Amino acid sequence: MIEGKKVRIRAIEKTDIDEIMKWVNDREVMDNLIMRYPVSRYQEEKWIEKALDDPNPRNKVFALETKDGVYLGGIGLHRIDWENRSAEVGIVIGNKEYWNKGYGSDSMMTLLEFAFDRMNLHRVYLKVYDFNLRGIKSYEKCGFRREGVLRHDLYVNGEYHDSIIMGILRDEFKKTPNEK
Ligand SMILES: CC(C)(COP(=O)(O)OP(=O)(O)OC[C@H]1O[C@@H](n2cnc3c(N)ncnc32)[C@H](O)[C@@H]1OP(=O)(O)O)[C@@H](O)C(=O)NCCC(=O)NCCS
Repeated sequence: MIEGKKVRIRAIEKTDIDEIMKWVNDREVMDNLIMRYPVSRYQEEKWIEKALDDPNPRNKVFALETKDGVYLGGIGLHRIDWENRSAEVGIVIGNKEYWNKGYGSDSMMTLLEFAFDRMNLHRVYLKVYDFNLRGIKSYEKCGFRREGVLRHDLYVNGEYHDSIIMGILRDEFKKTPNEK
């Protein structure tokens, strides 16, 4: 368990499948992620099994829940580069009732603290689509800086969108998120 102020980061359990299926085909959630195609329960179960059995030390994915044990979604570090000490972070709060209440920022701060203080990473970065203003705001609050733009990186809903690369270095990380 990795404890934040509002959330807990824990291992994924096979029993999380019912909660995941509630949002994994919700376009409002998934348009912000790379997943374009409908996902079946079978595919999602396979994904969980693969994540649990994954011997590859380059990926670490976890479940997110409130302190009361309400399942929120997932968070993970991908493409972990142990030589250069960097990783890409991904996050999804699938339960939309919990958007805009600080759970995402707290989850990210909690994972960053773990990444820098426990895993000894030096840089954490992410890719966010230009229309995901909630995500961008949340990452800025956590101290991420905009590093670059991948032009027309995504085609969705009939138009191209840019992806923004954001990153944070270990010595830029403060344990309290920047408020408005
Ligand atoms: C992105 C995500 C992780 C953010 O988590 P969250 O708990 O909703 O975010 P927070 O409440 O911590 O912060 C969101 C901030 O954005 C602000 N915000 C919301 N909508 C906004 C908009 N349209 N424009 C500008 N700011 C906006 C909120 O007011 C809040 O800022 P504040 O605390 O200063 O008021 C979550 O919404 C999510 O999982 N979304 C769906 C999947 C997704 O986008 N994943 C990330 C892909 S890169």
